[in-house]
Amino acid sequence: MKNSKILIAGFLFSTLLFSCKDKNKLEEVVEIPDPVEQTKTATPVGNPADVKADPGTFQMKGLPYAYDALAPYIDAKTVEIHYSKHHVGYANNLNKAIAGTALEKQTIEDILTKLDMENKAVRNNAGGYYNHNLYWEIMAPKAGGEPKGAIADAITKTFGSFENFKTQFSDAGAKQFGSGWAWLVVDKAGNLVVGSTPNQDNPLMPNVGISGTPILGMDVWEHAYYLNYQNKRADYITAFFNLINWDAVSKKYDDAQAKIKK
Ligand SMILES: [Fe+2]
Repeated sequence: MKNSKILIAGFLFSTLLFSCKDKNKLEEVVEIPDPVEQTKTATPVGNPADVKADPGTFQMKGLPYAYDALAPYIDAKTVEIHYSKHHVGYANNLNKAIAGTALEKQTIEDILTKLDMENKAVRNNAGGYYNHNLYWEIMAPKAGGEPKGAIADAITKTFGSFENFKTQFSDAGAKQFGSGWAWLVVDKAGNLVVGSTPNQDNPLMPNVGISGTPILGMDVWEHAYYLNYQNKRADYITAFFNLINWDAVSKKYDDAQAKIKK
């Protein structure tokens, strides 16, 4: 009796196995997802619109896309941590650092251009707040390529070609020792200049080695790329070019030129 039950169970199992195979369903059931791909495509846990700075002068402007929109070049987790932990941290610490001072009534640009570089709390956090606002703005999903219009002409005139600009900007990011930023700025004469700054310094601050209005900024802190690229900063820099929103950069270029001509 026991043996016949085993035989019947075995028969039913085989029938099920073959019928599933016939319908190509067995493969679906036993398919094991690639853990790396799963991490890249996992739904982010948060929503950028939920990220609010503590009450104060400077608030989060929101992200113009979802946390996973910059994948595969920058993964969702990196964007989420970067925006919802690092960036909001700079906003909160900036608000704390200027609470009760005259700086509370100033724009972020005024704070940076008139900065007392010895005031480390304002220097680091005003820089961090401004730099990240720019960073999110000059990236977009399905972007990259080459610029058009006046900025394209200026890049060719200044650097010889777009490829030469790309090399110089990439080198500025790659050679920045430790944490910092690579920049493309419009200087006070209206010329394009490439350079880099350490930490959260930026070209609006006095005496940082590069001066002008930033129109493109690339974060080369490890928190911007480490989850996906580990120590391979050069790979992140290559990928970053697929995300540059040249329409946004071009508008910033035109605005900076218009301001100089006023
Ligand atoms: Fe950052």
